[in-house]
Amino acid sequence: MLYNNLTVNEKGHLAVGGLDTVELAAEYGTPLYILDENVIRTNCRTYVNAMHECFGPESAPLYASKALCFKGIYPLVQSEGMCVDVVSPGEIYTALAAGFPASKMFFHGTNKTDSDIEYGVKSGIGYFVVDNLNELEVLDRAAAQAGITQKILLRLTCGLDPHTLEAINTGKVDSQFGVPIDTGQAYGFVKAALECSNVEVAGFHSHVGSQIFESDSFNRQVEILISFAAKVRDGLGHTIKVLNIGGGFGVRYTEKDPVSDIPARIREVADHLNTALEKNDFALDAVFMEPGRSIVADAGVTLYQTGGVKEVKGYRNYVTVDGGMTDNPRYALYKSEYTVLNASRADEEADYECTIAGRCCESGDRIAENILVAKPERGDIIAVLTTGAYNYAMASNYNRVPRPAMVMIADGKARLVVKRESYEDMMRNEL
Ligand code: LLP
Repeated sequence: MLYNNLTVNEKGHLAVGGLDTVELAAEYGTPLYILDENVIRTNCRTYVNAMHECFGPESAPLYASKALCFKGIYPLVQSEGMCVDVVSPGEIYTALAAGFPASKMFFHGTNKTDSDIEYGVKSGIGYFVVDNLNELEVLDRAAAQAGITQKILLRLTCGLDPHTLEAINTGKVDSQFGVPIDTGQAYGFVKAALECSNVEVAGFHSHVGSQIFESDSFNRQVEILISFAAKVRDGLGHTIKVLNIGGGFGVRYTEKDPVSDIPARIREVADHLNTALEKNDFALDAVFMEPGRSIVADAGVTLYQTGGVKEVKGYRNYVTVDGGMTDNPRYALYKSEYTVLNASRADEEADYECTIAGRCCESGDRIAENILVAKPERGDIIAVLTTGAYNYAMASNYNRVPRPAMVMIADGKARLVVKRESYEDMMRNEL
């Protein structure tokens, strides 16, 4: 099995955290998102411990809400000592509704509207991660109006290519995110921020991309940021205190993906950071990272019910399921590979080659192509692993399909954390 919280029970069914997935599907219906709380907590602790050890007690991981945002995630990550990265008023609203303190939120986003900015200021957001000059001006005004000094990080791009998918590669010079160092524009951005009287430039932020396994881009990123910070100190007389180096560590979708040793990778980044700090005679109060995927992805499993098995002679076999691109658009968008099992026959050999197709009227609605599973029959439960990140968060109602329910598993018990959408829910705003 890809992960050690997955087992096969005496009925030959796949179990997650000790619970029979076929029984969960019968109780809660399908499609069903399952999250294993224990896995999320373990992932949080891995980051918290490694970051405290490597960067000091003021440092912390921020959970990147965009990977999986719902009310129930916030108390969980808060209890593990995480801060959060929020990217929209919607995420802020959800986190606040869950009782998460605004002072521990970092507000991202490449196009924050005037009202987004006001909402963030009014909510008492800890740090704005300012993306551009336009935002800076509006934020300075909004902070003046509110009579506060807003702490900010300036989002910079380091010109690195981390060799991940083009759609999730954000750190290159040619990018809509942040302001590039290479072109000389970042220096002007800092200067402009220092001239604003209602913001405090606490530090810099940079994010190289997502689902990254190689360490090189992270190591280079801290070197570039510290040498730029030294240039700012020497040229503009301002010393930053905080660095946020983004998220992006990869997870295992299939056996082909490597196992990521996160503490070892954080140590490696810390070594490069310490060398750069020494070289530039620099010191920081805190370092932040923003993992999303590597906190929740491997905690998630999606269950579907098999509708049919169609063998197109001379071509291939299709297994259709009662969900698809509406609850997991990642194959349709990125051709992302997944590990798929027949949860009803987890003890049988996976020797049936097929393509798992969704229920939408669109040939791109697929979950996986040309994979091997134990041959399903109508009614069998199909499990797709590693669906905790960017699945529920990216789900849609295309073809008027309601979003699935989500259950959280902890201590051998399941509890509903997101109700299945009803047809009425989908029509709620329609007049
Ligand atoms: N910080 C910033 C500024 C980000 O843009 C992202 C992800 C993260 C942190 C979290 O990165 P993670 O640790 O999750 O890799 N929908 C795509 C992923 C888009 C990621 C966007 N930014 C997918 O399904 O693969």
